[in-house]
Amino acid sequence: MNNIQTKKSNPNAYYQKIYSEQKEPWNYRARGAEILRHEEIPDLLFGFKGQFENILDIGTSLGQLTQKLLPLSKRLIGFDVSPLAIKSARLNCPSSHAQFLVAALPGLPFLQETFDLIVVSDGIHEFVLKEKRKKALAEIHRSLKKDGICLFSDYLKLEDFDRFLEFIETSHFEIVFTYPLYDRVWYQFESWFKGIRNFSWVKKLISSITIAKILRMPARLLGKYGSRHILILAQKSSEKI
Ligand SMILES: C[S@@+](CC[C@H](N)C(=O)[O-])C[C@H]1O[C@@H](n2cnc3c(N)ncnc32)[C@H](O)[C@@H]1O
Repeated sequence: MNNIQTKKSNPNAYYQKIYSEQKEPWNYRARGAEILRHEEIPDLLFGFKGQFENILDIGTSLGQLTQKLLPLSKRLIGFDVSPLAIKSARLNCPSSHAQFLVAALPGLPFLQETFDLIVVSDGIHEFVLKEKRKKALAEIHRSLKKDGICLFSDYLKLEDFDRFLEFIETSHFEIVFTYPLYDRVWYQFESWFKGIRNFSWVKKLISSITIAKILRMPARLLGKYGSRHILILAQKSSEKI
């Protein structure tokens, strides 16, 4: 069975295998555009509201982004489908107000109206099967407090941007803002070095935030086409569902 089939038929095993084979899947801490994304998400959230009572981080991985969300909250819960990821997240986020568990979306094990912020970053399109997305968003909606917000981040094809926004809106959220990351040129740049990525000078280039920021300039000229990642901040709509 190939990887795509395993991801669909047995996602838990798929992700657990990734974590057993790679020290840091997706290499988030060594890639400029990802480092920048992990910095900008908490910055945007802080700018929007400052502090949050209860944060839920869905698909917490090794806790790379979670670490940066910690200063924004009095209580944070992170969960992931992979027990190996959760073991590392606990080590990477040693805080008395952080709690980690193994769980999967859809299937949220929380009471109604528990969180004032839910972060689902590189989540919905990464790991929720199309036929389960409606259920996943309904669970997120239910777990948010009245007026709670959800930060979605996803790596998308251009034609999926508007579809995703529409899907969020029809799932009883109001879009507060969208924030394209203008990272398409950076991903192209990274791909040029694929065969020589283990050279130390290449590692330096790829991990540079300055380069990631500079490459946003040409990406901006491409307009909508300049982004692979989009951040979407959405508020739970007050209308009853
Ligand atoms: C692409 S990573 C994103 C990590 C992090 N949220 C970020 O943006 O940096 C996706 C993570 O979701 C986890 N995952 C996969 N399926 C899941 C599910 N159904 N529920 C929760 N987490 C899941 C994976 O194990 C992986 O750690």
